[in-house]
Amino acid sequence: MDKEGSQLIRGLEGVVAAETQLCDLDGAHGRLAYRGYDIDELARLATFEEVAYLLWYGELPKSAQLDALTVALTAAREIPKELVQALRLMPRDGDPMRVLQAAVAILGMSDPDTTDNSHAANVRKAVRLTAQLATAICAHHRIRGGLEPVAPATGLGHAANFLYMLTGARPGAAAVKAFDASLTLYAEHELNASTFTTRAIVSTQSDMHSAVAGGVGALKGPLHGGAGEAVMRTLLEIGEVANVDAFTQRALAEKRRLMGFGHRVYKAGDPRAAILRGMAEQACRESGQFKWYEMAVQLHDRVGRAKGLIPNVDFYSAPLFYSLGIPVDLFTPVIAAGRIAGWTANIVEQHDDNRLIRPRADYVGPKRRPFVPLNGR
Ligand code: ACO
Repeated sequence: MDKEGSQLIRGLEGVVAAETQLCDLDGAHGRLAYRGYDIDELARLATFEEVAYLLWYGELPKSAQLDALTVALTAAREIPKELVQALRLMPRDGDPMRVLQAAVAILGMSDPDTTDNSHAANVRKAVRLTAQLATAICAHHRIRGGLEPVAPATGLGHAANFLYMLTGARPGAAAVKAFDASLTLYAEHELNASTFTTRAIVSTQSDMHSAVAGGVGALKGPLHGGAGEAVMRTLLEIGEVANVDAFTQRALAEKRRLMGFGHRVYKAGDPRAAILRGMAEQACRESGQFKWYEMAVQLHDRVGRAKGLIPNVDFYSAPLFYSLGIPVDLFTPVIAAGRIAGWTANIVEQHDDNRLIRPRADYVGPKRRPFVPLNGR
């Protein structure tokens, strides 16, 4: 349908709505790079802090620059006591993504740069919010379990500190590497639904915390970041490797939407899924829970053969996160803990070259008609 010369494109599929220097997503060839660096190399060879620096500042950091960012992130880890109090007041069985959305809004109330949308202030806020988001997720998890939050550990990197704040125990090197690489793989992904949401919000000249709260809300949905949690619930429902075939047949017959499969842009394969698959294999083996990996591989094979659907990033991250001991309902908050780097980098980019995002809709309701007063209806 036409509206003043433009065409309705459902779901904005294929629509280009921004220029970006952050993420080069080649869906046809299944390739992904952040600022020119291939995702595979970044996940293997860089830390999340280096990747965040790359996204915020434009280049990989030199050693002194990385040290400065590490100091800034570490210094920003503590969350305001008002937020801790608020977390204590929230329902214990509340969805952690709802809590996270509220936490981001609360952090916006005390940030010294809250309404300053300049480039420098946005980068300062990006650093603070990335550090605080991790602390807020872990503090809420501890509080809902009747435990005290674990204070951040200054000697640990971002990924290691996250796992430490979650469990109170210092994580092993293999777990830290897998978690750190996962944060990198989730850090940025062009105009996915949540990043688009953050850009739309700041395009009104609103601020970073408001936008990130909106991004958290968009990420939560099962068609987006919520899929990882749904994948794990599927694997738990299947239960054993021997049940995969029967489950797949039933799911296909019922025309179920298979979580963790399919992607709007990747048609040849999601490069992040391939990397996560290897990490899941290793982590499941090391945790003594190899069956989750085996089930995932078999499900991948059966669904691929039956429907030609590819696994997306959330498919293999589910058995990986599960075997790292991350509670299933924290999978999406963990994705947010990685994506915060990309959300904030996109917000910086949008503010630096802003135009209000305001698409049109085709009106398909009733034709113009006379108003009927209440007593005449
Ligand atoms: N299970 C079953 N069928 C599927 C799936 C799936 N996971 N994904 C796509 N299809 C089918 C659809 O039924 C549709 O078939 P039809 O043309 O016969 O009706 C066709 O493939 C196209 O699907 P759409 O939903 O139109 O594709 P779209 O690009 O709008 O959606 C999406 C992409 C949302 C990711 C979809 O593949 C999906 O729902 N996947 C499951 C949820 C998921 O894993 N989301 C995570 C995405 S990655 C991320 O956000 C971090």
